[in-house]
Amino acid sequence: MVACQRAVSGRDPNPDTRNPDYLAEKLLDAELMALVPACADLQRPFEEVFAEYLQRQARGFFAVVARTKHIDQSLQASLAEGVRQVVILGAGLDSRAYRMGPDHSGVRFFEVDLPATQEDKKQRVVRLLGSLPRNVVYVPVDFERQSLGTRLSEAGFRDDAPAFFVWEGVTMYLSAEAVDATLNYIARGTAPGSSIIFDYVPAGVIDGTSTEPPAVRARRLEMLERFGEPWLFGVPDGKIGGLVGKHGLELVSNLRIRELWDRYLRPGTADAVLGDADPEGGVALARVTARQVTDRVVTATARPPRPAEARVAPVDEPWTAEQRDYLEPHRRAGRLFNVFKTAAHHPELAGSFDAFAFGYINSESLTLRLRDRELVILRIGWLCRAEYAWAKHSRIARSVGITEEELVRITRGPDAAEWRPFEAILLRAVDELHRDSFITDATWNALVERYDTRQLMDLVFTVGTYSTVSMFLNSFGVQLDEGFSGFPKGAAGAR
Ligand SMILES: C[S@@+](CC[C@H](N)C(=O)[O-])C[C@H]1O[C@@H](n2cnc3c(N)ncnc32)[C@H](O)[C@@H]1O
Repeated sequence: MVACQRAVSGRDPNPDTRNPDYLAEKLLDAELMALVPACADLQRPFEEVFAEYLQRQARGFFAVVARTKHIDQSLQASLAEGVRQVVILGAGLDSRAYRMGPDHSGVRFFEVDLPATQEDKKQRVVRLLGSLPRNVVYVPVDFERQSLGTRLSEAGFRDDAPAFFVWEGVTMYLSAEAVDATLNYIARGTAPGSSIIFDYVPAGVIDGTSTEPPAVRARRLEMLERFGEPWLFGVPDGKIGGLVGKHGLELVSNLRIRELWDRYLRPGTADAVLGDADPEGGVALARVTARQVTDRVVTATARPPRPAEARVAPVDEPWTAEQRDYLEPHRRAGRLFNVFKTAAHHPELAGSFDAFAFGYINSESLTLRLRDRELVILRIGWLCRAEYAWAKHSRIARSVGITEEELVRITRGPDAAEWRPFEAILLRAVDELHRDSFITDATWNALVERYDTRQLMDLVFTVGTYSTVSMFLNSFGVQLDEGFSGFPKGAAGAR
């Protein structure tokens, strides 16, 4: 329905009032167009349609144009500030991932929707683009029944980097519980600096006590009934500050329909065109603030704690001949550590792995600067929450000049402001490899400005090696060796 409205308003020859969603029409098909009466307007000259809408004060139509522009603009501002995750909740035929994605290759778009609606959308996208874009992750979720946070994190969403959530044309279709659960997740489960923009109607529109013109109400009810999708949720007393405040979110802006109209369509004409009835809701932008961090550390979905005792005990002497062959060189080098004594249960594997991890990655053959190597190893160790790897490599890191402050900063990740630009890129590459086994175009292009092909290979293989080591350390419960200490005080969230 809204996609049809966007398609019609996307034909406006006047760029000032045109809907920027130029893909809306391309995502429709004959079947859908036959189902939605508003699509018939695509067959008529735009001027005629526009004049008619003005004449009958078609608020919905104009609200959708202004809303698209406003949300687009807010999202663009957030991307300009460096946000790299966009989540479109109840995505329907939202086209932002496809309109904006190509200009922002480092940004991941997560589209969240009911499974059947999402499958239909994916087919439309494939018809339009030939395939599903790699920067878009499709996450089927029913807000009424499933945990948004769990589903998002399973899909690779990061709760330690800020995100921009778009929730357009959805709140009114949900129960109050689902609206609360979603806002609560944004407030408690996402990184500070995350925002959510969403439109809403006041409760009076749901229960019929608003001063909305009866004809407007009747038209809407008829339409919603036709699609079997009733509106359920309205903001109590229209007090959006109360709703977002209840969840601890900070209200950044709240634009009513007439303000949207004035700002994005025809300044100074809202009263004349929309009449003087109460505005039906608006678009709110709310933000997760830093003061919620403490809260989050306590309430965030915890990662399972790593074993406090070895699951597989390190081998003690007497060793078998094979174990001796493997462990003796470590003893001679003064490193008869738990990791090697645990790996010694499988000397053949351990010996082959060491040949690469020590014979290459931790040797002078590696083409990365020592400082870069340690930043990379510590970051992947932190992301995997492998405290043993951290304990060993934070010592090596100190020996190559990495400071205590930098060690803590590694846990905060590539977005911490103080990194040198290339170091932020390196850490970002680690994060991307950890999350998706892939370096995005934006990060790759920045890496190749400094790294040659050997260095790029060394980077990827270092991350891979320490990811494997971390899996082993964590799962086998390898305990810290005497005299080594784990994650630093002040590390980013005990997750
Ligand atoms: C009116 S459409 C808006 C679609 C899109 N945001 C747009 O502006 O074009 C409402 C969307 O909310 C989704 N939705 C409704 N109830 C939902 C639920 N319980 N869980 C997830 N998505 C839901 C629908 O599948 C649909 O995509």
